[in-house]
This record gives sequence, structure tokens and C-alpha cells, in this order.
Amino acid sequence: MKIKTSDIVISAVAPSQYPEDMLPEIAVVGRSNVGKSSTINTMLGRKKLARVSATPGKTRTINFFIINKEFYLVDLPGYGYAKVSKTEKASWGKIMETYLTNRKNLQEVILLVDIRHEPTNDDKMMYDWIKHFGFGSIVIATKSDKVSRSQLQKHLKVIRQSLQMSKEDKIVPVSSLKKQGIEDAWHHIEELFIE
Ligand code: GTP
Ligand code: MG
Repeated sequence: MKIKTSDIVISAVAPSQYPEDMLPEIAVVGRSNVGKSSTINTMLGRKKLARVSATPGKTRTINFFIINKEFYLVDLPGYGYAKVSKTEKASWGKIMETYLTNRKNLQEVILLVDIRHEPTNDDKMMYDWIKHFGFGSIVIATKSDKVSRSQLQKHLKVIRQSLQMSKEDKIVPVSSLKKQGIEDAWHHIEELFIE
């Protein structure tokens, strides 16, 4: 994918704020701190477009990034952060559900999981849920710089099995730190547009 332009359009909390041009949208979901915002920045070749933090729970809104004036990458708040209050968890759930269930131009939802760990119950629930809506054909295994080359395939296999991914589904190891796997990730996203 050749990135000619990338910009943030809006940080939305309510559907009334979502972009109205109805260009295709690709959303990323995953546990807090898994690297959603970092992955988006790296995929766009930008350092600080999406806000990144070592403290989980950084992204609290739905952030729409427009690419090449053609489609959006959508950064969603992460789940599974224990220190968040019940009220906040409920509001997170509402924001996510409203977006994921009603958005007509949503083309794909990409689950991000940490390559080092077996997916959590929350990850499995999230994946089941997005599959139920017909998404989830691409999973990104983040922080691939944290496992050795010789262990990489083993980790990918554990994630595949644990999420019960089908053969056709793609899993892509990505390191935002080392800028690895970015082309592969884009390649699979581009295939979505061709089909
Ligand atoms: P929330 O917005 O809180 O849901 O988090 P997020 O999923 O957007 O994660 P974010 O991109 O903010 O990154 C969380 C932490 O992981 C930061 O400290 C990043 O520097 C680190 N991180 C992200 N990607 C990588 C990676 O590829 N390798 C390594 N080693 N660290 C990474
Ligand atoms: Mg984030």
C-alpha cells in the first residue's frame, strides 16, 4: 500500500460524530496496551498520529484516520484493563457495540493480540464476536520483536488454535518497534478491497 496521505479526521464518542462520507472502514480491536495505536502509526509511517502510551487505557474514543482520501483506519479503545471502573467499562462496551453493530461501511475488523501470550478469554470472546458479524479474516500478532525467530511460528500456531481461526484466516506477525510485517499486513488489507 502506498500511503500518500494520512490524517486524523475525528475522535468520536457518539455516532453523530462519525464521518459521513461512508468510505470503507477497517477497524482495529484488542486488549489495552496490545499496540493498536502503535501499529496504526507504523502502518502509516507516522510517529505520533495515533496517541501511544505505556499506560494501558490510552485510547478512550473512536479515532478515524483517513488514508489516501480513500478509506479509514479506525483505532478503538482497548478492553481488559483491570483498573478501569465499572461505569467506564460499561461506557466502553456501549461505544464499541454501537460502532461495530451499526456501521454499514465497516469492511473489516482486525483483532490484535500480543504474540508472546496465549489469547485471553476477552480476546477469544472478541474474536468470536467479530466472526459472528462476518469479520476477523485478519489477526495481527503484535510485538513480534519480543520473540525469537525460532519461536515465532510456534507462537502463531498457539494463537491460531486458541482463537480457532479457520485455514483461510490470516495471522500476521508485526513489530512496530522494528517495523516488521507492515507490508504483509497491508497486503492482506488490500486483498479485502480487491475481492
Ligand atoms: P490502548 O490505547 O491503551 O488500548 O493501547 P494500544 O493497544 O493502543 O497500545 P499502544 O500502541 O499505546 O502501545 C502500548 C505499549 O506497547 C507502548 O509502550 C508501546 O511502545 C508498546 N509497543 C507497541 N508496539 C510495540 C512493538 O511492536 N514492540 C514493542 N517492543 N513494544 C511495542
Ligand atoms: Mg491506543
